[in-house]
Formats: sequence, C-alpha cells, structure tokens
Amino acid sequence: MTSTRPLTRTFSSDNTAPTSPEILEAVARAASGPALPYGADAYTADVNRQLSEIFERDVDVLLVSTGTAANALSLAALTPPWGSVLCHRDSHINHDECGAPEFYTAGAKLVLLGGGDAKIDPGELRTAVGHMAGDKHSAQPSAVSVTQATETGAVYTLDELSVLGSITKDAGLRLHMDGARFAGAVASLGCTPAELTWRAGVDLLSFGATKNGTMTADAIVVFDRSLTTELTFRAKRAGQLPAKMRFHSAQVGAYLADDLWLRNAAHANAMAARLQEGLDKIPEIGRLGTVDANMLFCHLPEQVTKGLLAEGYVFYHDRWDPGVARFVTSFATSEQDVDDLLDAIRRHSAD
Ligand SMILES: Cc1ncc(COP(=O)(O)O)c(C=O)c1O
Repeated sequence: MTSTRPLTRTFSSDNTAPTSPEILEAVARAASGPALPYGADAYTADVNRQLSEIFERDVDVLLVSTGTAANALSLAALTPPWGSVLCHRDSHINHDECGAPEFYTAGAKLVLLGGGDAKIDPGELRTAVGHMAGDKHSAQPSAVSVTQATETGAVYTLDELSVLGSITKDAGLRLHMDGARFAGAVASLGCTPAELTWRAGVDLLSFGATKNGTMTADAIVVFDRSLTTELTFRAKRAGQLPAKMRFHSAQVGAYLADDLWLRNAAHANAMAARLQEGLDKIPEIGRLGTVDANMLFCHLPEQVTKGLLAEGYVFYHDRWDPGVARFVTSFATSEQDVDDLLDAIRRHSAD
C-alpha cells in the first residue's frame, strides 16, 4: 500500500500513527550529550529497571528495531534448526515475516494450527506438541508462539492462555508471545503484565511499542534469563545491537513512564469499540470476529469500499477474503475520526 497523499483518514494500521510527544522529547534529551554505546548507557539500564518493575521480577531486555526481529530472534533462541514452532495459521510469523523465523532458526519448521479469532485451539495444540516427538525423521516440536492481542484483534483471556501454557510446559516445550499489541491486551483485560506472561508460562515476549507510541523501538523481554547470553550474540549477528542504543532506550523509557503505554493502548481500544458500536447499527455491514483491542474486521458492500477509497480513506480490503475489510485504530485516532468514518460508511451504504 503506497500513498503520497497526507494520511489524514488512515485506518490501515496502527503503525501509520505518529510518535507520542513524550517520546520525541525523550529522544531530544538523549541527543543533547554523549553516552556510552551498544547499551552500556544509563537509558538502557533504566529500561531494564522499568520493565523489571512492570513485570514484577528481574527480566533482561534486548531492544530491537522491528517486531519481526523480536519474533525471529526469540524463536531462534527457543528452537533448534531441527525443531518446529507451533503457531496459529493466521499468525504474523507465518504470513508477514517473509520467512524470517525460518531463516533465523536456521530452518525450523512452522506447524500451523487452527482456532477461532486467530487463537490457537487447545485441542489442536495438545495433539501437535507430541506429534512425531522422538521420531528422527521429523522436525521436533520445540516452541509454541501465541500472539497477544491476536492478528484479528481478539485477546486471549488469562484462562485461555494458562491452558495453552500448561499444554506447552507439560510437553517440555518453550512458550513465546508475539506481543506486537501487548499493551492493548493488558489494557483490554485489566490484568497485570506478569499474569499475562511469565505467570502463564511465557519464556520470551516480543514487547511491541512502535504501533503504540514509539518511533523505531520494540523489545524482547526475557523471563528465562538463561537465554540472555545467546540472545545477545544472536542480536549482534542480526544487526540488532545499535551503537546508539540510547535512542531506542530513550523511546522505550518514555513509553513506559507514567503508564503512557497503557494510556495509549486504552485509547486505541476505546476508538475500536466506538467504531464497533457504530458499525453494528448499520445493517448493511457484517462485522466479523471479536473486537477486544484496536482492530476490527467486517464485510463491506463493494460500493462502500469504493466510496471510502474515493474519499481518501486508507484501509486494507480484499486482502484476506473478497469483500472483507480491516480497520485499525491507534493512540492518535480521535473520536471525530471514528465518527467521520462511520458517517461515510452510512452514506455509502445508502448509495
Ligand atoms: C502481530 C504482529 N506481530 C509482529 C509485528 C511486527 O512487524 P514489524 O516487523 O513490521 O515491526 C506486527 C506488525 O504488523 C504484527 O501485527
């Protein structure tokens, strides 16, 4: 999707959002003097401390520049080349990372599982964790990767997650969470970050931030700290150890300070809920799936899609199935933005 127009009417992704002003200011402060390179600076130490407080235990943190790097590096640390990663068939690691998980793991296999709302079905997982285990001809089940919030905007409940965590751990596998929208999940459930991760068995978390306020920084949060040394070398080897790490750290530090990450996510979720409420009152629109976070899928009549595009709206459509559209809100989406979109959909539905 390319556009040279000003993106005033964009619902295509939360990564079209700007940067939170607090984060820009933190970067400017970090740029005002020298600091030690490669993460030996005070900003990086602060982020470790902040995330250890937030997760209620000592964690290690690796700051990276993309969610794909966070996912692929994490999976490489959890899976040998002859292993397999069990994940949902609609997961970002399967569809949208251009084979990075397979590349970084040196060839591990993704085993695709089903389940509604892009959540892994526990029955399918129970079968898959033991499938061909010990058979020297087969890739060995090694890790499970769950996405929280999911790629369709649903959120695993704590109970759902702990069932998947138990199946994973009972089989001796490791658990990775793709938390590109982790803040949205925490804000949606109102639980603690600890409950949603290591208390449910998560070993490594891809802690997304770029969709919810930062410019260019995401993180890997390491709960099983025996993995840190390996991850550190892997990150360097992957070009994910910036000399000027302090700018990643300044971004994430400001993102975490004063609960900015949760405030931003709660706002993005509220805007999706507002959109959902409005759409559910338009009989021509068939909404799909559960809206727990900041993303919504629906069936749009063709004239509505065409009308919205003609008005300059930017959103994904006909990418998954014919007639299916996706709308994503962000911390920067206003109530007026949502109401204008609803108004446009109403007008074009009556065409
Ligand atoms: C579920 C999920 N995981 C990971 C990512 C990270 O992607 P990127 O490498 O573009 O930062 C995204 C971005 O769209 C995502 O939606």
